[in-house]
Formats: sequence, C-alpha cells, structure tokens
Amino acid sequence: MCGIVGYIARKQNPNSLKLGIEALKRLEYRGYDSAGFAFWDESKKDIFCQKAAGRITALEEKANIAVNAVALSANPLILHTRWATHGGVSESNAHPHCDCQNNIYLVHNGIVENYKELKEVLQGEGHQFRSETDTEVIAHLVEKFFQGNLEEAVRKALPLIKGSYGIAVIAKNDPQKLVAARLSSPLLLGLGENEYFVASDPSAIIAHTNKVIYLDDNEIVTITPDNFSILKEKKPEEIEWKLEDAQKGGYPHFMLKEIMEEPEAIENSMKGRLLTEDGTARLGGLQDIVTRLRRAKRMLFTACGTAFYASLVGRYMFEEYAGIPVEADVASEFRYRKPIIDENTVLLCVSQSGETADTLAALKEMKMKGVLTVGVVNVVGSTIARETDAGVYNHIGPEMGVASTKAFISQLTVMALLTLLLGRQRNLSLVKGQRIAQDLQALPEKARIILTQEAKKIKEIAEKYYQYNNFIYLGRKYNYPIALEGALKLKEIAYPIHAEGYASGEMKHGPIALADQNFPFVFIAPQDSVYEKVVSNMEEVKARRAPIIAIATEGDERIKTIADDVIYIPKTSEMLTPILSVMPLHLFAYHMGVLRGNDVDKPRNLAKSVTVE
Ligand code: AGP
Ligand code: GLU
Repeated sequence: MCGIVGYIARKQNPNSLKLGIEALKRLEYRGYDSAGFAFWDESKKDIFCQKAAGRITALEEKANIAVNAVALSANPLILHTRWATHGGVSESNAHPHCDCQNNIYLVHNGIVENYKELKEVLQGEGHQFRSETDTEVIAHLVEKFFQGNLEEAVRKALPLIKGSYGIAVIAKNDPQKLVAARLSSPLLLGLGENEYFVASDPSAIIAHTNKVIYLDDNEIVTITPDNFSILKEKKPEEIEWKLEDAQKGGYPHFMLKEIMEEPEAIENSMKGRLLTEDGTARLGGLQDIVTRLRRAKRMLFTACGTAFYASLVGRYMFEEYAGIPVEADVASEFRYRKPIIDENTVLLCVSQSGETADTLAALKEMKMKGVLTVGVVNVVGSTIARETDAGVYNHIGPEMGVASTKAFISQLTVMALLTLLLGRQRNLSLVKGQRIAQDLQALPEKARIILTQEAKKIKEIAEKYYQYNNFIYLGRKYNYPIALEGALKLKEIAYPIHAEGYASGEMKHGPIALADQNFPFVFIAPQDSVYEKVVSNMEEVKARRAPIIAIATEGDERIKTIADDVIYIPKTSEMLTPILSVMPLHLFAYHMGVLRGNDVDKPRNLAKSVTVE
C-alpha cells in the first residue's frame, strides 16, 4: 500500500531528484504517513539518504535544505512513500532502510510476515537494527549475501522472505545498478529515452514514458544505465492514459473530478460492447471462455469494500435476468471458507486496483481448485487482471481518489453487460434484452441530469446535515447494496461521522431504536418493485421525528410529504437504478467530507490499494 519510485539514467541528470519527487507525489494516494529517498552521489562517491515523517512536502523541505548546496545528479535513485504496517510513523521507520555498513539501501511495499524470526537470526549474527519495521530485515539479508554483486545478493535473500514485497535496492559498493523485485505487490519497469524507471503504478511515470513492463511474481530486474535484464523477456505494453488523466483537471479534489466523470465512466465501460439490436453485450476479454461461461451453473463473487457492494448488485442482476445462482462474499472471509464447487462453478473477482491482497488470495485459492476465474478490473496489467483466466477491463482511466466512485459506477455497468451476455445465453428474451440495452444506452445522459440539476441541492443538504454525527442508510433489493455503499462513503470521507448501511426491511429488527431528531435516516426509495415497502419504513421513522433524506424518482410528489429532503434521479429500469441512485450519495459524502475539513482525496488511515492483509 505504499508508493515506490526508482530511477537510473545513462547520463547524469541534475533534475533527477526533482523528477523523482514529482513522480513519488503521484503515488502519495497509495500511502502517505512518511517518505524518503536515497541516491548515489557520484561527486562524493557515496549514497545520500533523506527521510521524513509526514507528507512528501515535509521530505522536500528537508531535502532542499540538505541538497540545495550542490548541483547534484541523483543516479541511481530510489524513493518511497509509506503506509505503515509494522512500526509507528516516524523518520527512523520511514524508508529507505539500510544495512549495518550503510552499503545497501532499500524501499519496500508489502509485509515480511516472518520478520521476527529473521530479525532474531540476523541479530544473533551481529546485525544492528535501527528501526521497528519488518522491512529492515530485507536490507540486512541482502547485506548477509552481498559479495560485490547486488542482484546476486538480492536473489539469495528473497527466497527467505515469507509475505509480500515490491522492492527497489541500490548499493554503495555496486553503485551503477538498481535492482527491483516483486512478490504480490505491484511493480513495473518504465522504459524511457536513455533512462529507466521503477514504479508501483503507471501514474508515477506517465509523464516520462508509456512503455512499461509489469513485473510478475518472483521476478528480479537488474537495471544499469545502459540496459536491463529480467528473468524472462516481456514485451512492453502501451498505457492508454495521458498525464492529464492523472491530474485534477481544474477540480479542487480528485474525488470531485471522478464523481463528475461518472457519466463518462458509464459510456467508457460500454464503448463497443453493447449490442442493442441483439439485446446482449460483446466482451472481448471473455471471448476465449464464452463457451465455458454458457455451462456455468453457479457463480461465486468475491471482492472487498466498495467493489464487494458492486458484486452484491450484480448478484440481484444475475439471479433475476441471467437465471444463474450467485453467492457473494467479502474476499477476506471467502478465502478461508470451503465453498462447494464443481466444474461448472465460475469465480468473479471485482477490483479497481487489481492488487487487493484479500481478493488476490481468494482468487489464487479458487484457481488452485481448478475454478474458472473472471476479473472485472480497472488497472491494466495489474496482478488480478493477469492472474484471472479472463476478464473485463473498466477502461475508465486512473482513479486517484482513495474513495472508489467512478470505478463503482463502472463496475455496476459491467455487471449489467455481463447480465445481458449470460442472460441471452440462457432464457433472457430478445425483447427483454433489447429493453435493458436501450435503458443502458440512455443511462449516461440520465447520469448527467443528476450532476447538473441536483448538484446544488446536494451541496445544500450537506450544509444542513454536516454537523450530525450519526447516519443510517436504508435500501431494499437492488438498492440495499447502495445503502451499504452510501454509508461506507460517508464514514470513509466525512469521518468522524459514523454511518451504517442496512436492509430497509431489517430496520424494525433493531435499528429503529436509533430514530430520533438527532439521527438522520437516508432512504434510497426509487419507484421500483419494493417502493411501497420502503415508503412504509419511512413513515415509521418519520413518526419518531428522525430527519429523513430520500433518493427518489423524479416526479414522485408523494415522497416530499414524508422526507425532509429529497434528491431526485431520472426513471430507469429497476436493475439499473443503483447506477443512478448511488451518484447523489457519492456527491453528498464528498461535500460532507469537505465541510468537515477532511482531506477527501487521502482520508486518514486509508490507502487506495490494500495490498497487505
Ligand atoms: C472504497 O471507497 C474503498 N476505498 C475501499 O473499500 C475499496 O473499494 C476496496 O479496498 C477494494 O479496492 P479494489 O477495488 O481496488 O480491490
Ligand atoms: N511493511 C512495511 C512498513 O511497515 C511497508 C509498508 C508499506 O507497504 O508501505 O514499513
């Protein structure tokens, strides 16, 4: 969950440290409690290392003081922004970590699960440790095996490690080299003009190259100023993104930019895939397995957080329109279960980053059992995208805000496309398929209506409610997962506000005890097959004087007589309402977070990709 950048070039570049820090800033969303860098300084024939607790700006301030004096060229250079797992947030625990002789300098993303045992052995051999982290043991292991050749020492050290790593390493006594390696934590090699990069994800280096090689597990890359070598040749892949995609585009926050991109996310997720005439979808990434999908008798969905809520919506879609039994479970639980599977079971993993450790672990568990695995992933070339047998990319560009917003919208859209594809392989009629396809086609415009006509009201509602400390979100059927998602967004962005999502029908079995004038209830109440039931629940809450915010279908006057505040969404088919009903909740959470003075792009304690367990 941290960010790694590495740089090595044929020629000395006086701007290399500045370039490296700028690149590291593009990874700050992955973890930002401390940062550091180390580089070979040719003029001093030594490695210079600087670390700081806090954001990268704190490191920059320290660096400017320390290195401004000389026009230097940091080459090779490694940088790291941390999300602590072992050892508190402090300068000494920040990366890079080094060995006893200040020869080996190393940055790491991941967890060394057996670090305690390794540390005891190394201390027994006389190694002196300076930090509380798990990472530092890797630096001392490399030292243990170092006899002048850095990659050889790394190659001998890594097999002793249990856990996960993406690492970048340099050495004073083998200075014209940058060695990187990965196991479960993402790392890529960027091929520039007379310069090479290492990074945790493409957004760090897109300004310098779009030619990348994604490292696979157990691969070690050795990079010199003139060349690189890895365990096996891989052809460079082209990244579709442009630098401006990873920037804010004039918005105050990535989160707002990405919410405003939600209509476009629906469009991009469907581009070239919706076959309205035939009432189905064409998903190129599934071409090779479409026959096996036809035989699917049962599907298992697994994901984490917001992606799991997309899976829950997908379950309703698949059961109702594809006629396939679906079981959905959070990956951190699913991976330890023993689900009943057979040759007609299919696993579907949903993940924006494609690097979520629990989802990846569940995937590997099912692959070992021979289950056909499908991914719905946004980051091209990510681990889950490459581990699954087939998959569907979201194609919505980078999502930089820690809160998943446009990715969620895209995941729901892809679920609808999958429903059409699998449903029309089974009993979904042409007419019904065409109807859903037409409603899907009309969705981006309806999404734009919400963001234009309701945005101001949503902000006003946030200004009215942002000082309340507790909320409950309620929905039924397709909108029950939206209640869960709305509550997650509010608590992860507008903390310390607490919010809970609940099935509306469950309200009477406990949560209604919360209803009073200090406890707002948010109901997702579109005019669908369960509308009357939800309205009854609203009445019950109103009778107890709790404030009510409702998401309702435009034109619904009745809801105004019950709710204190109403946000309208355009009408669409029931299966697609979640794609529209969640949008006001994303925008509401955003404004509540801003009003609470939070950093909505980098909420406390969170990181964009949970690559540790
Ligand atoms: C969503 O707002 C959260 N940031 C988090 O729940 C996220 O959805 C979850 O960690 C899964 O991430 P993934 O989609 O990259 O696998
Ligand atoms: N486990 C290491 C530490 O706590 C790395 C954490 C990360 O991936 O940022 O320092």
